[in-house]
Amino acid sequence: MTTSASSRPAILVIGPYPPGDIELLEAHYDVHRLWETADKSALLKAVGPNIRAIATRGDLGASAEVIAALPKLEMIGIYGVGVDGVDFASTRPRGIKVTNTPDVLTEDVADLALALMLAITRYIPQSDRFLREGGWTTASNMPLMPCLHGKRVGIVGLGRIGKAVARRCEAFGMPISYFGRTRQVDISYPFIGSLTDLAADSDYLVATVAGGAASAKLISADVLKALGPKGFFVNVARGSVADEAALLAALETKAIAGAALDVYLNEPRIDPRFAKLDNVVLLPHIGSATIETRRAMATLMRDNIAAHFAGKPLLTPVV
Ligand code: 8YV
Repeated sequence: MTTSASSRPAILVIGPYPPGDIELLEAHYDVHRLWETADKSALLKAVGPNIRAIATRGDLGASAEVIAALPKLEMIGIYGVGVDGVDFASTRPRGIKVTNTPDVLTEDVADLALALMLAITRYIPQSDRFLREGGWTTASNMPLMPCLHGKRVGIVGLGRIGKAVARRCEAFGMPISYFGRTRQVDISYPFIGSLTDLAADSDYLVATVAGGAASAKLISADVLKALGPKGFFVNVARGSVADEAALLAALETKAIAGAALDVYLNEPRIDPRFAKLDNVVLLPHIGSATIETRRAMATLMRDNIAAHFAGKPLLTPVV
């Protein structure tokens, strides 16, 4: 049976996906591409009354303004685990469902956290540059660097990703402690109820906590001061979890040894002061950006949207 275009649910896609994924949505829905439209309010005015679902990304979310323009909106499918970009004050009163893509990206984000820890500690980007620029043949070699194994790691937010980072750190012989809202039963790592105390006791502070109001600026000037001049800050969570002004100041004054970051405020136009620093490793939000994981995220997001329109239980609803 062929389905006429008009009987297909209309969905609004907030930002691009890897090649092929948008076409898989277009096979089932009338897709409207917000990011390709210069006059976004004109598009929302024209198609907003018909839109029944939003497909978005963890880093893009769905704003109050967009949600308000979609009177028939029933659900939001997020490609990503982070839900901090969705305006729940708009979705909750209207009973709009939200789904995300947990679990499928956990191991990749944890892999990247370890890659960042190794890169910042062992001067990997600097060493690569040194060799390419001929330094090896003209100078003796890179300066000696700190070691990673055996150093103390403090995990900020011991959720799925934090636990996956901890498992990897165990293999590096690193003593692990964590900070979070509560002590977790069945977890043997020491819980430190004060983030400043955790920072003071850690060589690496790794943020894996969910973004949003509850975690905003958790990594404060005081926490960075406690981490100290030999400590490294690693962030694979959200830029919002650090007080970015305090972080930049701590890096510029060498109040901490360095930072390895995958996330920032104002992505992708991050504060240009970061790029002037030599004690940072900066990645463009690629924690989950592997072929396998992005495919799994796209499939799970589409399966959630399909379940919604089939009247079936959602696979990964956000609770
Ligand atoms: C992705 C993310 O950046 O899962 C998240 O919350 O931020 C990332 O995995 C994103 O959703 C894809 O662009």
